[in-house]
Amino acid sequence: MKDLRINGDRLWNRIHSMAKIGATPNGGVHRLALSQEDKRSRDLFIKWGQSIDCKTRVDAMGNIFVRLEGTKRNLPPILFGSHLDSQPTGGKYDGSLGVLAGLELLETLRENSIDLEYPLELVSWTSEEGSRFSPAMISSGVFGGVFSLDYAYSIKDKRRVSLKEALEKIDYLGSSTPFGRIYSGFFELHIEQGPILEKEKKSIGVVKGVQGIRWYELSIKGQEVHAGPFPMKIRRDPVRVLPKIISALYHLEKEFGSDTRITIGDISVHPGVCNTVPGEIKFTLDLRHPNSEVMDGMNQRIRQLVENENQESSLYLSHQELWYCPPAKFDLQCINAVKDAAKRLNYSFIEMFSGAGHDAVYLSRVTPTAMIFIPCKDGISHNEKESITRSDAIRGTNVLLHSILNYINQLKS
Ligand code: GLV
Ligand code: MN
Ligand code: MN
Repeated sequence: MKDLRINGDRLWNRIHSMAKIGATPNGGVHRLALSQEDKRSRDLFIKWGQSIDCKTRVDAMGNIFVRLEGTKRNLPPILFGSHLDSQPTGGKYDGSLGVLAGLELLETLRENSIDLEYPLELVSWTSEEGSRFSPAMISSGVFGGVFSLDYAYSIKDKRRVSLKEALEKIDYLGSSTPFGRIYSGFFELHIEQGPILEKEKKSIGVVKGVQGIRWYELSIKGQEVHAGPFPMKIRRDPVRVLPKIISALYHLEKEFGSDTRITIGDISVHPGVCNTVPGEIKFTLDLRHPNSEVMDGMNQRIRQLVENENQESSLYLSHQELWYCPPAKFDLQCINAVKDAAKRLNYSFIEMFSGAGHDAVYLSRVTPTAMIFIPCKDGISHNEKESITRSDAIRGTNVLLHSILNYINQLKS
């Protein structure tokens, strides 16, 4: 099995066939979770899974599993995969690389008539991105025991459609329980979504963990008044104080260091017309850092900022934590399986942490987990221009395959 390699053309063709679903004119994809585009991508994925003679299953979160039976059916399966949903202006590879690499791996084993003792399961997680249904990684969170199924079902998108209604609408509300299953391990191949591998001129990132993420919604309430007659001096205009608050938030980087990430990705002004002074501004804040104490320190600062602002001003600032995903550390045995695979295949690699959140974070709470990164051009992702090379995709998929083979050998010894 040392010489086993995946079929690069088949992998690359599948990735680009999938990218046609929800393709945007600028070369990316728009495939929001549980949309019609997402449904089409799921249908295609299941068709491909069945075409290689694997059993498919959809659970009650709409997660899709493609299973290749092991010679010992009762052993806990090795799980691997990623997601098929995208950002509104997403790229072709974020998520879909990991899913389609998994399919390629299964097909490679099948056509070479390789029977492994352990069953293998490839998974495509529902709604990883969190761009339609917030927070991100909701299904792997349910799987990992972090969110209840009821909570996940109740989450609504901006049009007040619940996640459960959306699952029903596209006919992907399955029946099997989406948590509590026992697996031997989980591996996720993904594009790096940052510039490190490219800068270091390495082909593979052996991912040891993921930095922490906290999402907030902040609101500044003022008073709606007419844009003409009402004097500037006595207005309570939230737009006027917005720059000061935003600049205090960006200041967190100075205080907590250059590993801090601060993103204000969505600002909405109410009622959002030209000739009314807005009554409210709402905006999101995404804060990240690899260290959980620093994450807590930043949380404390935000509370102080809100208190101080409310003492000084006639407007009302409030904040609500939407989600906290603490930093995650992956499993040493899985990390070593990835490292040994990269070594055996003679690919250059470095060990690194992930800046982006991934389903692997929540999986790592319930099963030994590691991730594999490949470079993406200029580190750009969550962007329609996201780009990878064919050879990096092939290398990443070969590493996924051999990580799993190594891991099975470790489990047997
Ligand atoms: C997932 O894409 C994230 O926000 O890191
Ligand atoms: Mn992703
Ligand atoms: Mn993403």
